[in-house]
Amino acid sequence: MKVIASQSHISYLQCHACKKAYSPTEIASISTCCGRPLIARYEFNDYFPKNALVSRPATMWRYAEMLPLLDIKNRVSLGEGFTPILKLQKLATKYSYRNLSMKDESYNPTGSFKARGLSMAISKAKEFGVQSCIIPTAGNAGGAMAAYCASAGIEATVVMPTHTPKIFKDECELFGAKLILVNGLISDCGKKVAEMKKSGSYFDVSTIKEPYRIEGKKTMGYEIAEQLNWQLPDVIIYPAGGGTGLIGIWKAFQEMIELGWIDAKKLPRMIVVQAENCCPVVDTWNKKQPNCLQYVGKPSIANGLAVPNPFAENMMIEVLRDSGGIAISVSDQEMIMGVKEIAKAEGLLISPEGAATWIALQKLHEVGIISESEEILLLNTGSGYKYLENIV
Ligand SMILES: Cc1ncc(COP(=O)(O)O)c(C=O)c1O
Repeated sequence: MKVIASQSHISYLQCHACKKAYSPTEIASISTCCGRPLIARYEFNDYFPKNALVSRPATMWRYAEMLPLLDIKNRVSLGEGFTPILKLQKLATKYSYRNLSMKDESYNPTGSFKARGLSMAISKAKEFGVQSCIIPTAGNAGGAMAAYCASAGIEATVVMPTHTPKIFKDECELFGAKLILVNGLISDCGKKVAEMKKSGSYFDVSTIKEPYRIEGKKTMGYEIAEQLNWQLPDVIIYPAGGGTGLIGIWKAFQEMIELGWIDAKKLPRMIVVQAENCCPVVDTWNKKQPNCLQYVGKPSIANGLAVPNPFAENMMIEVLRDSGGIAISVSDQEMIMGVKEIAKAEGLLISPEGAATWIALQKLHEVGIISESEEILLLNTGSGYKYLENIV
């Protein structure tokens, strides 16, 4: 493929297991050497000072040098990124937290942080001339892919659990996607996608089975640093399913250290929260199982957390270990309480996944793992409006 006008500083794609390098100018899925995720690596000697950002538009594309899109004309954007970091002042006062805020990803197109990864992946699909994309989804990623495919003029097939709330299905169809429903969880949808790929020609956008979504998601990490004036918080609490956001945010921090934008000595502890109904990473972290391969999960009101066998579990565990973090689970009932409490106290209607971070904070504070004097950042990954049929 001929590179025309690249702003990207991408250097190569790298197998996460054996570190073998792959070309960034050919469409990629998982590594052919080890069957593991491919990770985008960049050239850090090229000049990219952080003050170059000052006059750029407030979207995730302001970090274009650190994104893998080769030709700007292939960008498929609906205005994703640069979501606000909001102070949770009432809750902070009530519970005596010195510095409590939330990065609110519900401001993204299609109402969730999935917009970032899918904007990136569908831009790359367009760059490589892909005609048809397919995704197994717990809900939000499917809606985002359908929207970006509509904008790009690419055919979209979304495979989603039957029990997912109706609004997630309706939005896919409104965006013109073909919707396939499967009895089971996202892992069963993944099996259906694998089967369909045998007879059709699709670009498979499954979580971390291509190297681009993570690059879109990592822009949350760049934004957290930029919006907090390049001083990272002490703790970030993140609701993890497939783990793209967690891995992406941590990747952004490593890249910003290389760029000389942040201090390597002050990185946050990354805390994973999962649903009690489906918490494979928590169980692996607590050594209840060697890994998630045999884990059997149940549905959760937080659809995005019902991922029983995340492909990149070992990468999530690495982030927890490297950052001094921890993994914890919360129940569906607690998430509903959290949604209601935050709505009443702060006027924010957040997703149950986002509310899980608030409940996790209280539990970890109670046992002394997080102190009220720390700077705490919660991630609300999606809009609560899509979940109302299960909440009120
Ligand atoms: C609202 C929401 N939060 C969190 C997640 C988990 O995302 P990740 O794959 O980054 O762990 C999802 C995934 O579907 C989601 O929709």
